[in-house]
Amino acid sequence: MRAVIGRQHGGPEVLTMGEVTAPEPGPGQLLVDVAAAGVNYMDIYQREGRPPYASAKLPYVPGSEGAGTVAVVGPGVRDFAVGDRVVWTQVPGSYAEQAAVPAALAVTVPEGVDLSVAAAVMLQGMTAHYLCHSTYPVSQGDHVVVHAAAGGVGLLLTQMIAMRGGISVATTSTTGKAVLAQQAGANYVTDYDDFAEVARRVTDGAGVAAVYDGVGQATFEASLSALRVRGYMVLYGAASGPVPPFDLQRLNPAGSLFVTRPTLGHHMASREELLWRTGDLFRWIAEGRLSVRVGGRYPLEQAAQAQADLASRGTTGKLLLLPGEDPA
Ligand SMILES: NC(=O)c1ccc[n+]([C@@H]2O[C@H](COP(=O)([O-])OP(=O)(O)OC[C@H]3O[C@@H](n4cnc5c(N)ncnc54)[C@H](OP(=O)(O)O)[C@@H]3O)[C@@H](O)[C@H]2O)c1
Repeated sequence: MRAVIGRQHGGPEVLTMGEVTAPEPGPGQLLVDVAAAGVNYMDIYQREGRPPYASAKLPYVPGSEGAGTVAVVGPGVRDFAVGDRVVWTQVPGSYAEQAAVPAALAVTVPEGVDLSVAAAVMLQGMTAHYLCHSTYPVSQGDHVVVHAAAGGVGLLLTQMIAMRGGISVATTSTTGKAVLAQQAGANYVTDYDDFAEVARRVTDGAGVAAVYDGVGQATFEASLSALRVRGYMVLYGAASGPVPPFDLQRLNPAGSLFVTRPTLGHHMASREELLWRTGDLFRWIAEGRLSVRVGGRYPLEQAAQAQADLASRGTTGKLLLLPGEDPA
């Protein structure tokens, strides 16, 4: 089968196309024909060799998210059959024509939901879900900051906060992205220089209940200063670089603040939790309450370009690789 191969760690150029043997579905696994694979920051960190994401072995097939049709059912699998449409995340080797997916991580894609929409919502949708339902559960009337609100996680998170009755102060870097954030339900849209001031102004000086920050280094300090007493600093990513070591004592005078650095793997810890979060996502999509924006579609051959585009800050919504797409 055709697959993207990372032969070493480094820039986008280390990703090449190759022919590899299709994986054998072992006990409890499905072999899936991949219709769409998600492109994520995690894939970039893995390619760069950043701990803890670096691939333990080289060469490797990148990607951890996708959707497709079951081609072969491995021994012991009871809940899936050949022809079923499934979606997954946290499964290595998804930038390929076929992927071996543990049945325990596969989720049925409901009828009426396109496989590319399913692949586009899985990782970022579940991330947005746990951030505003579990890490800091937004309540009616809560003011919160959402950074990079026109991005993959950002657009979904902004919509979910609005559904929960939260009031969001959203950051974006361009006018076009600001429009998208507004359409997603952001109440105030601002740039990265002014968001802390806006957050204070719209809360009569009190500050916001939580900041959802996937930007990291560039926004961390101002994010802390936007929080109310006992507010939550939810640092969930590092698009601008990792936050340097931090003196915990600072949290005391700043307002008994909470700081957390959550990750998706710990928020799909059981089959029940996985089905709760994905069940909500697919129901909201069917009801027309959650809109999923695909900001770019690429053939597998252009995986390096897709990753470069995601890191370039020029994209909105979700980027997908489509193994069936003509590379020309
Ligand atoms: N912890 C988890 O469970 C989890 C899960 C998924 C993703 N993440 C993290 O969430 C973040 C967002 O992921 P995503 O896939 O949805 O990406 P994304 O938001 O679509 O893209 C990143 C966005 O960050 C903003 N940004 C601000 N400063 C930047 C800089 N110096 N360089 C690049 N981008 C910058 C840009 O939006 P503007 O141009 O509007 O500033 C850019 O479009 C990433 O840090 C990712 O690692 C974490």
